[in-house]
Amino acid sequence: MSTKKKVSLTGVKPTHSAPHLGNYLGAIRPALRMADQFDGMYFIADYHALTTMRDPAALRASIYDVTATWLACGLDPARTILYRQSAIPEVFELAWVLSCVVATGQLERGHAYKAAIDAGEAPNAGVFYYPVLMAADIVLYDCDVVPVGQDQKQHVEIARDMAERVNHLWGAGTLVVPELTLSDAPLVPGLDGRKMSKSLGNSVPLFDDAKSLRKLIMKLVTGSEPLEAPKPSDGTTVFELYKLVATESEVLAMREKLAGGGTYGWGHAKQDLYEAIERELGGRRETYRALRADEAKLDALLEEGAERARVIARRTMARVRSAIGIARPG
Ligand code: ADP
Ligand code: TRP
Repeated sequence: MSTKKKVSLTGVKPTHSAPHLGNYLGAIRPALRMADQFDGMYFIADYHALTTMRDPAALRASIYDVTATWLACGLDPARTILYRQSAIPEVFELAWVLSCVVATGQLERGHAYKAAIDAGEAPNAGVFYYPVLMAADIVLYDCDVVPVGQDQKQHVEIARDMAERVNHLWGAGTLVVPELTLSDAPLVPGLDGRKMSKSLGNSVPLFDDAKSLRKLIMKLVTGSEPLEAPKPSDGTTVFELYKLVATESEVLAMREKLAGGGTYGWGHAKQDLYEAIERELGGRRETYRALRADEAKLDALLEEGAERARVIARRTMARVRSAIGIARPG
């Protein structure tokens, strides 16, 4: 049963714009597929977003967007713990403890902070402190694995270092040292063939209506081979995207049809791609809209998750306070 499973924990930062197909295929879907093997904890890293977000209405909306997206994509709140980072104040207390065992030099090497400094920017202290809060997010919940993409690997390694240091200073078992699991998430190409990214203007929004989705897919950049010519498959944007959404036999069929030339052109391939994406996302679109329209329901779900997360957080903090000599009676 679920109690024997390992616990995996994933934090999702609210972003400035609605999620796109790259987020879904590259982050959300792989994380949810892992959920079957683990007892999952998912949280909205709302305080992490504050390092860059200054518009309260946008932050507030983004928290609901992200929550509704993950739920619409299949996160089952009955089988997982879904909550807001900010609902568990213990995380900030633990972050302080962790900040007292990490050398500033290690934080200076943090990639986001270092990149900002190298670019001549003047990052706020939240950017510097980001890995500390992230470490607290992780070790507060006694989780066993933290599945992340390459971009978050360094942060999880810093978290492991801090947990080991705490255990060394104050006793083995004070904190659980989690394993890092690098997700084998694919890199999703955008409409122009570069990595799909909201900042490049080449992304496909996840939950636009079917008509707009088809229009966008038809804009996808392809080769200029004439209809009757044999066409390449691997490495072309249409085919690489198709591989991520179609079944194995459909992928084989498209490869053959492209290679065969004749009456199958890029326009047909794009239509097939559109249909496969629509099959994957069409049903979720309505679910998303219904969920997103009901903020009270989202709040209630997040709060239910927070109640369960709080039990674990309090248990860990009691252990930590006692280990470091700050235990309070009661
Ligand atoms: P963007 O690059 O559009 O700003 P984010 O940085 O907000 O996207 O990414 C959120 C999550 O989605 C991260 O886990 C990131 O690795 C993943 N992701 C974003 N774009 C892609 C992509 N093109 N391919 C694979 N994963 C992606
Ligand atoms: N920093 C992560 C990101 O930008 C989000 C995050 C915050 C996270 N805390 C975490 C991820 C803890 C995993 C574990 O995507």
